[in-house]
Amino acid sequence: MRKKIVAGNWKMNTLPQEGVELAKGVVAGRGEVSNEVSFIVCPPFTHIAMVAEALKGSDIEFGAQNCAAEAKGAYTGEVAASMIAALGCKYVILGHSERRQYYGETSETLNKKMEQVYANGLTPIYCVGENLEEREAEKHFDVVKAQIEEVVYNLTEEQFKNLVIAYEPVWAIGTGKTATAEQAQEIHAYIRKVLAEKFGALAEETAILYGGSCKPANAAEIFAKEDVDGGLIGGAALKAADFLAIGKGF
Ligand code: 13P
Repeated sequence: MRKKIVAGNWKMNTLPQEGVELAKGVVAGRGEVSNEVSFIVCPPFTHIAMVAEALKGSDIEFGAQNCAAEAKGAYTGEVAASMIAALGCKYVILGHSERRQYYGETSETLNKKMEQVYANGLTPIYCVGENLEEREAEKHFDVVKAQIEEVVYNLTEEQFKNLVIAYEPVWAIGTGKTATAEQAQEIHAYIRKVLAEKFGALAEETAILYGGSCKPANAAEIFAKEDVDGGLIGGAALKAADFLAIGKGF
């Protein structure tokens, strides 16, 4: 049985105290959702310690949205995976399209980040996805395949067992435009096939999340698909009630 996961990517939103209130809201309503669903929140770095405190005693896990490609040292403004791990994070989002697009993250950088993430006992939530132009040119399969081959194929089997994938079509992020459940299933099944070409049956256990304008109104239909194991949620993760309601979509 694959894990069912609803992960919240808060992006660069909320002030620390607002983040704490949001986390508390998730904890307060968590009991309404089946405990077969795992919840993860990924606040900005500045709030992680405070959010960790607010989540104490609950089964809600937390993670960071990025980490440095190096272990430590003279890298002004960067945050090391070891620092994230020391705060109790279990996860790190890597390769989000916003990082690829606005901060020039390449597969080369992401390979180094992956190494740091695993060296510190963390689990990456590795994001893949095509932009609108690529989708319209029907290149989406090739794009996600390259994103997987260039990074995930470099993992050992042991590392691969600790990996979450998020498929996030760029044209659906923050646009209100969601992939249809059929589009999601089609590409999630393809991603699993690409993973299986390298890792065989282990790919059956990999959680592949959908992300891009996922909300309470569409989560159930998308999550009903065989190869969709949950969601990576942006905007709707900023309201505890919506975030939890998405978890009821399974
Ligand atoms: P939205 O849910 O706001 O479209 O964002 C999705 C996303 O990028 C999550 O990482």
